[in-house]
Amino acid sequence: MVKTTVSLIKADIGSIPGHVTVPKPLLDVAETKMAEAKETGLIKSYYVFHAGDDTELLMTHSHGENSEDIHRLAWNTFMACADKAKKMKLYGAGQDLLVDAFSGNLKGMGPGVAEMEFEERGSDPVIVYAADKTEPAAFNYLLYKIFADPGNTSGLVIDPRLTCGFSFEVLDGLKNRSVTLSTPDELYSLLALIGATEHYMIKKVTRNSDGEVAAVSSTTKINYIAGKYVGKDDPVCLIRAQSGLPSVGEITSPFLHTYLVAGWMRGSHWGPFFPVSLKNSKCTLFDGPPRIIGLGIQVANGKLAADDDGTPLVIDLFDDPSFDQARQEAMQLASYMRRQGVFQPARLGPGAMEYTTLPQCLADLEHRFKKEG
Ligand code: F6R
Ligand code: MG
Ligand code: MG
Repeated sequence: MVKTTVSLIKADIGSIPGHVTVPKPLLDVAETKMAEAKETGLIKSYYVFHAGDDTELLMTHSHGENSEDIHRLAWNTFMACADKAKKMKLYGAGQDLLVDAFSGNLKGMGPGVAEMEFEERGSDPVIVYAADKTEPAAFNYLLYKIFADPGNTSGLVIDPRLTCGFSFEVLDGLKNRSVTLSTPDELYSLLALIGATEHYMIKKVTRNSDGEVAAVSSTTKINYIAGKYVGKDDPVCLIRAQSGLPSVGEITSPFLHTYLVAGWMRGSHWGPFFPVSLKNSKCTLFDGPPRIIGLGIQVANGKLAADDDGTPLVIDLFDDPSFDQARQEAMQLASYMRRQGVFQPARLGPGAMEYTTLPQCLADLEHRFKKEG
């Protein structure tokens, strides 16, 4: 049976004004490159969009995860976008392309990657989450709710195909090592780790009964790669839905409410996750609030399910009044947090601030300190 791969690859390669959004001419360059790749047969279908200032390439193909050809295609597409961004003098042109030349795999080169290969079921719904002005660990709470909290996902109790639970592969971002924990048995240990969002992030979720892939997220650590502050690693995540996996509604229902994530202005503040439609995918207020968009797609015969003209059917999930309450809560929290200015806990703790521009400011003060007796 031929397997299908869904690849979501993203990079900030330029935006306007400042770090707010990606303009159409840049998306058009990406669209042209993707159309060419579809023409040659390298990819079977694609959808170009943006999350705030990040350009996102959603592709389906049959080359598996970590394919050199697919990663090269994404890199070349971003390079072409960066050329355009430089000509337009867009802000941060080429920002996330951290190396001079492509060398086999995007790992360590700047762009974020979430990929999953699977054998297609009778019908295969996939939810795409893409966020701006936050970090991969922002998905820890979300993925816990979806795959391990029966209060959110009734299927964990009611559907015999889900009662086996799910396993979480967790990356230790500081020590570059990973561990897999199985829920419900090891739920408390999982929470002990992933509650520490500064340190741990969920990489992958699989179903316990058969190891079937259920979710993957990008876990790039761009600051470590660049060796300096270059913004947060605005993350992406793919989640498969239905027929023995959480339903679409169980995947969206964590956004009945909002929760706080790290990032926002200068990657240095706690802010509420703000679920928005594609139309509102622009980080305006205090460079945020950290925004997340949610798209619903289905994979059919190796392609994104499309209309009769071949245009992919992409459902903008947060373009819906059901999420108004989370948005209202988010704005109340945003105003509460902003009233606290640069004082903790509005500002991130010292560990996380190490990866911002703050240490330069503190270094300038160092010689003025006098020893206390
Ligand atoms: C956060 C982000 C922005 C910038 C801020 C300052 O991830 O991208 O909040 O950190 O606008 O940007 P620069 O340093 O480019 O002036
Ligand atoms: Mg930017
Ligand atoms: Mg961004």
